[in-house]
Amino acid sequence: MSHDSAIGIHDLSFATTEFVLPHTALAGHNGTEIGKYHIGIGQRSMSVPAADEDIVTLGAAAAAPIIARHGTDRIRTVVFATESSIDQAKSAGVYVHSLLGLQSACRVVELKQACYGATAALQFAIGLVRRDPGQQVLVVASDVSKYELDSPGEATQGAAAVAMLVSADPALVRIENASGLFTADVMDFWRPNYRDAALVDGQESISAYLQAVEGSWKDYGEQGGRSLDEFAAFCYHQPFTKMAYKAHRHLLNYAGHDTDKDDIERAVGQTVAYNAVIGNSYTASVYLGLAALLDQAEDLTDRPVGFLSYGSGSVAEFFAGTVVPGYRQHLRSEANLEAIARRKPVDYAGYRELHERSLPTDGGDHSTPAQTTGRFRLAGISNHKRLYQAR
Ligand code: COA
Repeated sequence: MSHDSAIGIHDLSFATTEFVLPHTALAGHNGTEIGKYHIGIGQRSMSVPAADEDIVTLGAAAAAPIIARHGTDRIRTVVFATESSIDQAKSAGVYVHSLLGLQSACRVVELKQACYGATAALQFAIGLVRRDPGQQVLVVASDVSKYELDSPGEATQGAAAVAMLVSADPALVRIENASGLFTADVMDFWRPNYRDAALVDGQESISAYLQAVEGSWKDYGEQGGRSLDEFAAFCYHQPFTKMAYKAHRHLLNYAGHDTDKDDIERAVGQTVAYNAVIGNSYTASVYLGLAALLDQAEDLTDRPVGFLSYGSGSVAEFFAGTVVPGYRQHLRSEANLEAIARRKPVDYAGYRELHERSLPTDGGDHSTPAQTTGRFRLAGISNHKRLYQAR
């Protein structure tokens, strides 16, 4: 199979929340030794949504700069990937389509398979662009990761959205044809429809993830994929950044390579900067890894990057992308740093209050407190309908 494909990620932009909780504040509340958070799981802080932010406002905020740069004319499909959906029927993407003023001649759909959904969206988008290379697909991956207060998962929450414009002759990354797939029915992480917070069996999820690394890498080889030493770096799904290190060590071991600490650092070290301060953003996480890598690496021109996308339950895919010459002129490095720096720290009590909030379900008219300074906000709910504002 040819490695080359002239379709891929033309632009990538992300957004995160109004507030941030440093792990020192969480540790101060629950008495955890801070080394467990900073070193043990590799997390420094986590993004906390304001009362008037949700997956729609985050998704629209991530996509708006892409629309500003490329216009709407060629976008005939929007795929919204999430596992923290706000409606069982209507796609969150339809609200984003409206907030961004996209054309009515457009299909919009929501996709779900835990943290893997955005990769399915990317691959499906490539299929659509291959059918008609004149079209572009807007992929939005947006999630709020929420676990119960005082549970082990609490330290691995976060929220963010990544938007990617998928097109022919992409300016950033060409996605290659070979892809390794793996599905196994496991209960490592799930969220029944009646629950707001996810349920997770942490140790099970680590071992299910590592199984999926093996399975998808094995299939990738059988599909004619590259050999391990061809890759400049590896973007792993990062429920917490230490997982990228565990996963890469496991892959090296499985592939019969030495598991040298410096080699692992070189392979994944530049993919963790954004996830370490944003926390788990589920579907967006692996692509925040790519954003950090592109923003920080010396020069990746024509170099292949490996992607391991894992979604509990579980589905995984290993695939490769080649970085396009001239990519640096199209990066959003400054805006990315600003999205992180603009967050306001909340203390533990403030975070707890936001965590415990939920929208009223009585069908009445309720406005939400004006907290976000972002461009899009969830203004309230009325007659069970979410009301959004753009400014
Ligand atoms: N200094 C440095 N490291 C420390 C430490 C300290 N003081 N105390 C503990 N650690 C290390 C542990 O050794 C462990 O590292 P290791 O796994 O490399 O051995 C790490 O910190 C975590 O400790 P552990 O006891 O396993 O933590 P936990 O029981 O609180 O669980 C998670 C951690 C990540 C499993 C839990 O937060 C979780 O389930 N998160 C959700 C994960 C998820 O979303 N999965 C689904 C998608 S993939």
